[in-house]
Amino acid sequence: MSPSTPMDQSNSLPCHVGIVMDGNGRWAKARGKGRLEGHKQGAKVARNVVEWAKNFGVRQLSLYAFSTENWDRPKLEVRGLMSLLSILLPRTLPEMMQNDVRFRVLGDISPLPGSAKRAVENAMSETKGNTGMDLILCLNYGGQQEILAAARTACEWVAGQDDRESAWKALTPDRFRSMMWRHDVAPLDLLIRTGGERRISNFHLWDAAYAELYFSDVYWPDFSKQDLKDALNDYASRERRYGKTGEQVSS
Ligand code: FPP
Repeated sequence: MSPSTPMDQSNSLPCHVGIVMDGNGRWAKARGKGRLEGHKQGAKVARNVVEWAKNFGVRQLSLYAFSTENWDRPKLEVRGLMSLLSILLPRTLPEMMQNDVRFRVLGDISPLPGSAKRAVENAMSETKGNTGMDLILCLNYGGQQEILAAARTACEWVAGQDDRESAWKALTPDRFRSMMWRHDVAPLDLLIRTGGERRISNFHLWDAAYAELYFSDVYWPDFSKQDLKDALNDYASRERRYGKTGEQVSS
């Protein structure tokens, strides 16, 4: 096994890995530091994880950086996270280019402060030709909000059809997904949450239907290459049945 290969069977590698990077606040508190120090350390780990995931062969990595509910955090913390974004994204650009990483966003960036929005738009535009791995930052993202937005699109689509009855019937889960923000993102294979909680917290709700879930007690700022490897190896040991029987799947 090469050092960068987490497992023997390459077909057991998840294409799309999503991570809820939880535990920054508790990591900081345990060290007598402010919450923002935890986020800063967390951002360093996020940069490392992009490189590790790319080297392991993951094709899409989505990181839950800011949820629709995170606006309700103390103003200072929200402001700190937004300035982290506007400072760190331009600094991270050279390594994204070097690692052939395409930067994308899932979520509604319109309410972000101007400097953060500009940093996001610039990173997307600078990296759009990269093909090595997609880094999908989930920003002002909520799974319920994403589903609701697609439901509105679906209703408009049905209303615009001459034969509405047939249109309702044609509204399959696949067609509905094609109306979601994630329409051109691969289905989520592995959802990792650090920090000890066992919740999905509005992350990738639609694809969570069949994603494999992996919970780690490690606080995000302590998350290591070995922790990622453990998660990928655990994924490789799962049997994904999608409602079928084990016998059907193995035959
Ligand atoms: C959850 O930990 C973490 C977040 C809400 C933010 C994640 C952000 C980063 C890792 C920094 C990189 C992102 C940007 C925007 C530059 P928590 O604060 O809920 O931790 P706790 O549960 O221990 O309090």
